[in-house]
Amino acid sequence: MAKMWEGRFSKALDQQADDFNSSIHFDCRMFRQDIKGSMAHAAMLSAQGIIPSADADTIIAELEKILADLESGKLAIDMTAEDIHMFVEAELTKRIGDIGKKLHTARSRNDQVALDVRLYLKEEAAGIVAMLKGLLEDILFQAEQHKNTIMPGYTHLQRAQPITFAHHLLAYGMMFTRDIGRIEDAVKRMNYSPLGSCALAGTTYPTNREMVAAKLGFDGITLNSIDGVSDRDFCVELLSAFATVMMHLSRFSEEVILWASWEFKFIELDDSYTTGSSIMPQKKNPDIAELVRGKTGRVYGDLMGMLTVLKGLPLAYNKDMQEDKESIFDAIDTVKQCLTVFPPMIRTMKPLPENMLRAAQKGFINATDLADYLTKKGEPFRSAYKTTGQIVAYCIANNKVLEEMTIAEYKEFDTQFEDDVFEAIDLRRCVESRISAGGTNQASADEQIKYIQKFI
Ligand code: ARG
Repeated sequence: MAKMWEGRFSKALDQQADDFNSSIHFDCRMFRQDIKGSMAHAAMLSAQGIIPSADADTIIAELEKILADLESGKLAIDMTAEDIHMFVEAELTKRIGDIGKKLHTARSRNDQVALDVRLYLKEEAAGIVAMLKGLLEDILFQAEQHKNTIMPGYTHLQRAQPITFAHHLLAYGMMFTRDIGRIEDAVKRMNYSPLGSCALAGTTYPTNREMVAAKLGFDGITLNSIDGVSDRDFCVELLSAFATVMMHLSRFSEEVILWASWEFKFIELDDSYTTGSSIMPQKKNPDIAELVRGKTGRVYGDLMGMLTVLKGLPLAYNKDMQEDKESIFDAIDTVKQCLTVFPPMIRTMKPLPENMLRAAQKGFINATDLADYLTKKGEPFRSAYKTTGQIVAYCIANNKVLEEMTIAEYKEFDTQFEDDVFEAIDLRRCVESRISAGGTNQASADEQIKYIQKFI
């Protein structure tokens, strides 16, 4: 495709350099945003008397048709164009002649691309927030059913204290509510229109940038034209929020993988979210969870790539910045792919409460409760802790658990032990008596569920 800027040059760009320079292969996905931005710009040019209103009407009507033709597939994007901005303008001029050439008055591709990316990211961010809310619903679906399902809670991946499966799942729920907050914060800061910054220094035309901003749903305009075209903080912030989403999905995936193993067997994954082995007939592999964990690396890479592209750039626009799009687009695509398969995998997984309980019964996870029992009898916590440690050592040496000790054996360690000790170390009691706010008791689970429901 002929270049808009070829007037200054005596020969064409080398073919391979042209391919290298072109961004149409990836920025073509912003055609809607580019056209909408151009329509708002044309309306402003006319309102300000910069171009005749009849010309603006022609431009806007034809842009509308181009958009419809692209949507319907009647018009294909010309992949030999330099980028989506050049394609739309060239197509417009092809259709309406010289009037089309007026569209680029008082703007530059530098502010245009900054605008298009913001518009695109705002939409995609809203879609991802909706997907995260879907995931929260699936977490609640499981949590509601497992408020009484006892499992071991871990620290250092060593059995630590009894918790409920609901409490564990709701911890992830809290993470995803914060992720939504982070995405929405990033969108708030990106919601200022850079259009009208022009190449970098503004323009001599009496533009009305606020009008364009309002038409496109922005909260206002960027206040410094150099910043308007050189800022990509909004990409970094959103990528960072996406990287955090992936980190949470990855931790969750890791647990799903562990829980689905024969060693744990806390859950059974639905057949539709597992795969078999080409050689081992017994295998049922948690590939989906593993891939989500693996794809986390990609999104971290996208964030690092973006930060690295930006780090040495002088103001204002540099062509390096064309690299912003592939990183952010890849991160969006990856997060969306993960959020398509991960939530139904969680909703359809089958928790196995008997196995969770069995695991909880073996690891002395009620030892803290035994120490608390003595403390409540008046023993200082440190002494109670020490006595309990001795009892645990005795149990290990005698191959038994706390529930299997006789009261006589308990009294050997401390005469204050009475029959009610067995009630105190009962796992269900241990869970229900963790009455502190945010603890693993049922009232807290109910409160967390209510909070997340309200959040959604
Ligand atoms: N395709 C370019 C990009 O994605 C558009 C901006 C081009 N501006 C320029 N001065 N060459 O960044």
